[in-house]
Formats: sequence, C-alpha cells, structure tokens
Amino acid sequence: MSQKNSTKISVQNLNLHYGDNHALHGIDMDIHTNQITALIGPSGCGKSTFLRCLNRMNDLIKSVRIEGKVIIDNKNIYDKDVDEVAVRKRIGMVFQQPNPFPKSIYENVAYAPLKHGITQKGSTCDELVEKSLIQAGLWNEVKDKLSTPGTSLSGGQQQRLCIARTIAISPDVILMDEPTSALDPISTEKIEALMLELKQQYSIIIVTHNMQQAGRVADMTAFFHLGDLIEYAETETIFINPAKQKTEDYITGRYG
Ligand SMILES: Nc1ncnc2c1ncn2[C@@H]1O[C@H](COP(=O)(O)OP(=O)(O)OP(=O)(O)O)[C@@H](O)[C@H]1O
Ligand SMILES: [Mg+2]
Repeated sequence: MSQKNSTKISVQNLNLHYGDNHALHGIDMDIHTNQITALIGPSGCGKSTFLRCLNRMNDLIKSVRIEGKVIIDNKNIYDKDVDEVAVRKRIGMVFQQPNPFPKSIYENVAYAPLKHGITQKGSTCDELVEKSLIQAGLWNEVKDKLSTPGTSLSGGQQQRLCIARTIAISPDVILMDEPTSALDPISTEKIEALMLELKQQYSIIIVTHNMQQAGRVADMTAFFHLGDLIEYAETETIFINPAKQKTEDYITGRYG
C-alpha cells in the first residue's frame, strides 16, 4: 500500500510538565498510518503521559503544562481553534482495566455513536453495533445476549467490548495503554490478533510492559527513559540491533 509509511501523527518538540515535574523532554516522533507503534520503557518514564498527549487527555489534569506540537493530519491538535472533544472522538482510547459502562452490551457500543449523531436509534444503530462487535471479534460470543450488562462479561470480553465501543465512532487512531496487562494469555492473544486486523484500518499506538508483545505486534517501537525518547525505530532494530546502550540494557533486562 502506498500510504503504508505515510505520517499520521507528527510530534514536534513536545514538553510536558506536571507542576515542577518535567515529565516529557522535547519529544520528536513521527507515527505512521496503518501501523502499530509500541511505547516501551521502565515504570514512570512517561509512556502513559505521552500517549495521553495524543488525544489531549492530559488537558483534564490540572497541573499540566504542554508545549510543542502534535500534528495529526496536518493540523496541530493543540492549536487554540481545536475542540478537544472532537479530538478525543477521532483519537480513541482503550485503557489497562476494561471499563465498560454499567449498561447493556448493546448500549455500551451504541452510546457514543448516538450521542455524536453518527447514527439514529433503530435498524441503522443495530447494524453499527453488530459491525463494531464483529470487528472487535466479540459478536459470536454476545449476539444472543446483547441486553445483558457489559460488566457481566469476562475481562477479555470486556476489553474487546471496549474496543468495539471505541471503533463504533470510526476513530482514525486508537491509543491503548497496556490493554492486555489485566488479561489471561488466551484473551491477550485474541486482543493481539485483533490489533493486527485493526491496523489495516487504523493507526494503533500501544503502551506495553511486555516486550514479547511489542515484538509480536509492533511495526515501530519507541523506547522511553526518564522522560526522554531514547530510541525510535523499526521493532526489529530495537530488539535485535539497538543503536543506544540504554535501549540494549533495557531490552536485555538489565533494568526496568
Ligand atoms: N496525573 C499526574 N499528575 C502528576 N504527575 C503525574 C501524573 N501522571 C504521571 N505523572 C508523573 O509523570 C511521570 C511519568 O508518568 P507516566 O504515568 O507517564 O509513566 P509510565 O511510563 O506510564 O509508567 P508506568 O509504566 O508505571 O505506567 C512520573 O514521574 C509520574 O509520577
Ligand atoms: Mg503508564
């Protein structure tokens, strides 16, 4: 595909402070369309902070100060004229703990598209719910119990429900912060297979502590350390032939 290596998100000199804590130091990074990009690094290095910058989730935190640019499709999402709610709609997010709403499976998926006016109640909404659940690889398991609570599903099913909920509003980018760390190996495998499917349509950025997972799914991998982006390259390069000593120390388990 010609667009394979085209830039979806261009992060330019991004600095973030939480009060006095300078948590991200001048990050420059181009994230590609239709790829999975993994963010790795020791606890506290800024992975989640960086991820939240990509859909302006950090705006919700009081002490935060952000400088620099996050350009998505040629527009800086931090420009004054950008509506952050619209940004969060385009850039979906899946969290570490599956967090379905305390509503039915159907309503979990239908809620946002109805709220944003993407669909109307009735058969078009039913179709969208079905399509999203199919895409998330959950349809066969839930099609006969759409009115039961989302919270009654297993953890792995709940996480796929959260992915269905995210893709129901047709985002461009899906951010995932350790989406499988609360899941068993079989559910993890399903989510990883799903990510590989979804990257055909979306750009996916995943934070993971599991280096095998990064190796299995990611096209590109970024290694963060203490707020610095130490190295960013094709996943194979990061794991087999890293350019920086710090990266090598981390991936060989010398710290972290
Ligand atoms: N809401 C917040 N308010 C203030 N400081 C924060 C907040 N979230 C993170 N930090 C600080 O920012 C730095 C980076 O944290 P972040 O959560 O981004 O790390 P991480 O790489 O995701 O770590 P982990 O692997 O443990 O999830 C840390 O020093 C942390 O204490
Ligand atoms: Mg984190």
